Amino acid sequence: MVAAVRLLELGAVDSTNRYARDHFDELADGTLVTAESQTAGRGRRGRTWVSPPGVNFYGSLVVKSPGEAATLGYLAGLGALGALRELYPAGNFFIKWPNDVYSGACKIAGVLCESARLGGGRITGSVLGIGINVNLPPAALAALDQPATSLLALSGHEFDRKKVAATVAKSLFWYYSIYSRFPDRLFAEWRQANRLLGREIELEWNDGVRRRGVFADLAPDGALVFEAEGQRTLCRCGDVRIERNSIDWNRFSET
Ligand code: BTN
Repeated sequence: MVAAVRLLELGAVDSTNRYARDHFDELADGTLVTAESQTAGRGRRGRTWVSPPGVNFYGSLVVKSPGEAATLGYLAGLGALGALRELYPAGNFFIKWPNDVYSGACKIAGVLCESARLGGGRITGSVLGIGINVNLPPAALAALDQPATSLLALSGHEFDRKKVAATVAKSLFWYYSIYSRFPDRLFAEWRQANRLLGREIELEWNDGVRRRGVFADLAPDGALVFEAEGQRTLCRCGDVRIERNSIDWNRFSET
């Protein structure tokens, strides 16, 4: 178990995930590498993560213990969610499978977990990358490739990014401690935070095929249990697509 999550604050890097993986040997367990900007921010499924300077949070947590990829994903997703709920309690944030954080139909944070090797050897740890839209203005949000929001767009005021980083570090420390001692609790909390569970969704599978069906359940290994035409199938890599008008967002609140 780590004693704290400590920040390593960098200027411009290509990607905090790349930096944390390349310096994995010398970085202490529980280091949260943050950057002012990323010139090659990476998203899931080969996408890019738009990372302009001075407006958002970009960070990667160094985890030096072997762990299930799914559990580490919950750790990062819950860490981002916990920080956002603390920073802006009116935000009505939830997790959209696998580990995006949403407010209404718009994404505010994303997670990219990657394995890391010590001394170039066998897999010995992971890097948990988190990107949060903090002070990204509405015009820049509109230019993104999917419906997105930021703390600024939701609240109407700017947030102190140092406070955001400190809150993310605190939240990640909390969930890293739970992960080390009671990993089953992480799954229960993550399942609860997935508020689209039980709803009609469109699922985009890893090969790009889209199907409509019901988000029936979550398996402990992180798979989404998808039900269509009476058949249940497990999906381990893909995206849930939300149609803006398919949900009454005013009545979609914490349960
Ligand atoms: C996604 O939703 O597709 C995942 C986005 C993850 C972005 C973060 S920003 C910090 C870290 N460094 C990266 O290059 N990516 C992750």
